[in-house]
Amino acid sequence: MREINFNHVTFKYPNSRTLMIDDQSFNLPTNKWIGIIGHNGSGKSTIMQLLDGLLLPNKGQITIGNLAVNEQNLEEVHKLVGMVFQNPENQFVGSTVAEDVAFGLENYNIAPERMPMKIKHALATVGMTKYENSLISDLSGGQKQRIAIAGVLAVRTPIIVLDEATSMLDPMGRESIMKLLRKLHDDGHYTIIMITHDLNEAELADHILVLDQGKVLANDVTERVLSNRKLLKELQLTPAAGEQIREKLIGAGIRVPDKYLRTEEMVRWLKQKLN
Ligand SMILES: Nc1ncnc2c1ncn2[C@@H]1O[C@H](COP(=O)(O)OP(=O)(O)OP(=O)(O)O)[C@@H](O)[C@H]1O
Ligand SMILES: [Mg+2]
Repeated sequence: MREINFNHVTFKYPNSRTLMIDDQSFNLPTNKWIGIIGHNGSGKSTIMQLLDGLLLPNKGQITIGNLAVNEQNLEEVHKLVGMVFQNPENQFVGSTVAEDVAFGLENYNIAPERMPMKIKHALATVGMTKYENSLISDLSGGQKQRIAIAGVLAVRTPIIVLDEATSMLDPMGRESIMKLLRKLHDDGHYTIIMITHDLNEAELADHILVLDQGKVLANDVTERVLSNRKLLKELQLTPAAGEQIREKLIGAGIRVPDKYLRTEEMVRWLKQKLN
């Protein structure tokens, strides 16, 4: 399938003296939900812009399946990778919802007569059917992010990258986007790559890539990465709610399972204990 491979990738920003990414090689699995975590400035956005061909490596190769990400193949790359960014304000071209989603489709040479159906379908998937003719400026932040995701879904890129796409949303907006991602993930047709600082979000992923100063510190299934306390301490990331509860229970001398429990699993475990 379309496995993502970075092979000895080196990258330096033109105006910077130091290498941002120095000879990094790794694979990311397909049709999985992948979390990317790391400090501010660890290179998360850079890595994803390299994947999308927005930035090009100085050395090494990036491939998606057997497609090389390079200048010649950018059009093909953009058919595979769709990006949703942090700031809901900065990613719209149309003034109404339908116009904006249509604009994306035009860029992909979709026949005009097929557009209305594709727009309706994408809006239905993100639960925004009612807003087809609304002005984007009238939507909430969470609704705007849904439309940005609809724009990516309409053009059917199999890889969807969300670069801190929930960080400007309120808790309800966040939760609704996470539910939507879970639904897309369960469909099984997408590789979802989610950059986040929030381990409550990251723990929902199947797989996690950890970056620090442009280096890959870990690239493994979620349970294995998030149960590595030493690594998380180094990263100074606040553990997810379930893991915090587990640590408090251990501190209180209560015996808990000796493996990583996602918050949902912790709730189930507690419920069973209390019954
Ligand atoms: N356009 C640029 N020119 C020069 N340096 C840059 C540029 N963009 C980013 N950098 C530098 O590259 C490093 C990695 O930045 P990047 O945006 O990839 O980090 P990040 O992990 O996404 O951080 P954040 O969590 O803050 O979004 C940072 O030190 C940053 O200052
Ligand atoms: Mg970033």
